[in-house]
Amino acid sequence: MKKYDFDKVIDRAGTGAIKYDMVEMLFGQEDVLPMWVADMDFEVPDFIVDAIKERAGHPVYGYTRRTESFFEAVSGWMKKRHSWNVSPGDVDFSPGIVPALVLSVLAYTNPGDRILVQSPVYFPFFSSIENHGRALVNNQLSDDHGNYTMDFDDLESKFRDGVKMMMFCHPHNPVGRAWSGEELEKLAELAVKYDVLVVSDEIHSDLLLFGNKHIPLATLDRKIARRTITCVAPSKTFNLAGLHTSALVIEDKQLMKRYKKVLGDTHIGGGNLFGFTALEVAYQSGEEWLTQLLNYLEQNFLLLRQRVNEAFPQVRISPLEATYLVWLNFEFLGLDDKELFRFMTEKARLGFVDGPRFGSGGEGYMRMNIAAPRSVINEALDRLLHALGSLS
Ligand SMILES: Cc1ncc(COP(=O)(O)O)c(C=O)c1O
Repeated sequence: MKKYDFDKVIDRAGTGAIKYDMVEMLFGQEDVLPMWVADMDFEVPDFIVDAIKERAGHPVYGYTRRTESFFEAVSGWMKKRHSWNVSPGDVDFSPGIVPALVLSVLAYTNPGDRILVQSPVYFPFFSSIENHGRALVNNQLSDDHGNYTMDFDDLESKFRDGVKMMMFCHPHNPVGRAWSGEELEKLAELAVKYDVLVVSDEIHSDLLLFGNKHIPLATLDRKIARRTITCVAPSKTFNLAGLHTSALVIEDKQLMKRYKKVLGDTHIGGGNLFGFTALEVAYQSGEEWLTQLLNYLEQNFLLLRQRVNEAFPQVRISPLEATYLVWLNFEFLGLDDKELFRFMTEKARLGFVDGPRFGSGGEGYMRMNIAAPRSVINEALDRLLHALGSLS
């Protein structure tokens, strides 16, 4: 069995990597260690790089369609990883998950329709609704000292008031939850009862940690499957975000037809031939690499929790059930959000995403990306603990 090297530090500066090349613009100074945007500092596994090189060796990169193997690869991965029987005919393409959210808004709702999200949540959820003249409805998550649950009473009352669509983050960025079967059943029951269409963003569904399991929403029963648009991608899992290749699973034929129409009407369905190659090989051959990645991420999280808890137990660290995005609460510092951001940037020289960007409920929090070599995580922790220490 090959052992992959996640300790290797790769210099991404100057490659156009937004995580690195936008540091000064975003944080106002160059010496900030970037731990913000959700991609990984690990190298893409060799079998994907080799497949791309092989395709690149063919000297014509003309218009290229997705062949059956693309759809079969998505279906095969859903079966092996999530015990989900997806027919390849129920799979379609999107050049990204945010585009898939926007296309779903355009395909299934009209201006003025109400679309529900659960803040604090990945912020393009807000813009993909509001930029298209739809009304944002928020069902804020309940936060019990960093442990998050859904507020089902509030959800039901908002659904009852007339919600057309819900944008569901599953697993949840930034709070790190892998929603349980029981929670999903309650949600599905309400969506069916109030005739709500659910766009389930499952981009993080391969990144389940510490024995947690991902249950695709659409696998609960036929009733919820018929009203679910599931968004998946190899982009987070295998570090391929720059290839802009994602997939949707839509089991209802009418909903699929409407999606295809909007994808066709917007002329963005062509895709990227290297993305097709990468998705196929990742989903065909990626399991062993992924097992090792998940193990590495778990160790990074445990290291972070141990070092932070030992020195500053007042920092609240939400449990990380999924994703490589850690949700940290710094309320004890008594700083307002601007001051906290300034403290992290100027004193700790760390580039986190500040909680309020994720909407209400994000106050006092910072999101830290731990998909980096251990030496980088240790450097970040040194900076953080040193800066916190300088306050006491
Ligand atoms: C929940 C969620 N959805 C979507 C995306 C981005 O997807 P894409 O780059 O495919 O548009 C991210 C990236 O962080 C995310 O966390």
